[in-house]
Amino acid sequence: MTASSMPTQKDRVLIFDTTLRDGEQCPGATMTLDEKLAVAELLDAMGVDIIEAGFPIASNGDFEAVAEIARRAKRATIAGLARAIPADIARAGEAVRHARRGRIHTFVSTSPIHLAHQMRKTQDEVIEIILKTVSQARDLVEDVEWSAMDATRTPIDYLCRCVEAAIRSGATTINLPDTVGYATPDEYRSMFRSVRERVPNADRAVFSVHCHNDLGLAIANSLAGVEGGARQVECTINGIGERAGNAALEEIVMAIRTRGDVMPYETGIETTMLTRASKLVSHATNFPVQYNKAIVGRNAFAHESGIHQDGMLKHTETYEIMTPASVGVSKTSLVMGKHSGRAAFRSKLEELGITLSDNRMQDAFERFKALADRKKHVYDEDIEALVDENLATAHD
Ligand code: KIV
Ligand code: ZN
Repeated sequence: MTASSMPTQKDRVLIFDTTLRDGEQCPGATMTLDEKLAVAELLDAMGVDIIEAGFPIASNGDFEAVAEIARRAKRATIAGLARAIPADIARAGEAVRHARRGRIHTFVSTSPIHLAHQMRKTQDEVIEIILKTVSQARDLVEDVEWSAMDATRTPIDYLCRCVEAAIRSGATTINLPDTVGYATPDEYRSMFRSVRERVPNADRAVFSVHCHNDLGLAIANSLAGVEGGARQVECTINGIGERAGNAALEEIVMAIRTRGDVMPYETGIETTMLTRASKLVSHATNFPVQYNKAIVGRNAFAHESGIHQDGMLKHTETYEIMTPASVGVSKTSLVMGKHSGRAAFRSKLEELGITLSDNRMQDAFERFKALADRKKHVYDEDIEALVDENLATAHD
């Protein structure tokens, strides 16, 4: 075996799905209990490592949903969110009590702007809160995640003090969120590297990324955080979440899978279930998926331009970097429109079981082009109709 053909050892990146918590927090995305159970069941079957099922103190409905998902989950760890408040932590602990694996995820703001205007606390007071609340959570469950809300706008020295305090009190996962989607990939990568180098007990915890998409950088930042040493990615199906949303699960997972040549990581996600998950969440939340959304948008595997269709008919890798089957889409779609060329038209006729002589083919193609100029969508029935017309009038 040559050095270049040797299999590279890939690091496992844990997928933490927060569709049912951060995702549901976006305006208008509320789900019923049955919808949440259906989403959680699919996430569990798909291989999501941690499902953040809700914010138990927020309402009785949220508590019930987290508790029921915790009872039903077969493989995933079930997390409940809690502010750094004793009553929140106790409620989250109660909600995940019946899970095979339960996690309390507690957070507190660390940035100067949050401390001054939201928390109205000093830095030392927040350190005290971290020590107390993480210890309380750790008395209830073995698996405690602590998040530094607005970590990316927190001075690094203070962030390191907070992380050290959280790990000392028993946090097993440290999440450093880009709460307001402000970081750039370089900054986010460096933040993880610095914290992991400077905090003496850093190797006792798994580090986690949690990126919002306000500048459209959520995926790039998440991947940069992984390069900086994080091994858990927090994300949501279809990228739903506060404001511009969270990093989209399907994009992270497929980026890691497709570019394994430059990113030596792997996830445990069964990618053929991604499209189903996207449709289920879109249906449950009533949030349409944008047509050109990466991986799961209706156009993600559709081609209209003549040049692209011709290439696709010759070899699918000319214009597709992953197969539709790998994300659960049955096949590539060559959309017939004014940009389509002869090769695609001929292939469409074959698919419809129509054989034409060269002359008739030429005539039908000209009619098709004229129709496509007038009509936005040319359906199979339109093509069948124009071929019938062509057969009635053309002469070989
Ligand atoms: O964006 C954020 O900071 C959060 C925390 C609660 C983890 O969602
Ligand atoms: Zn968030």
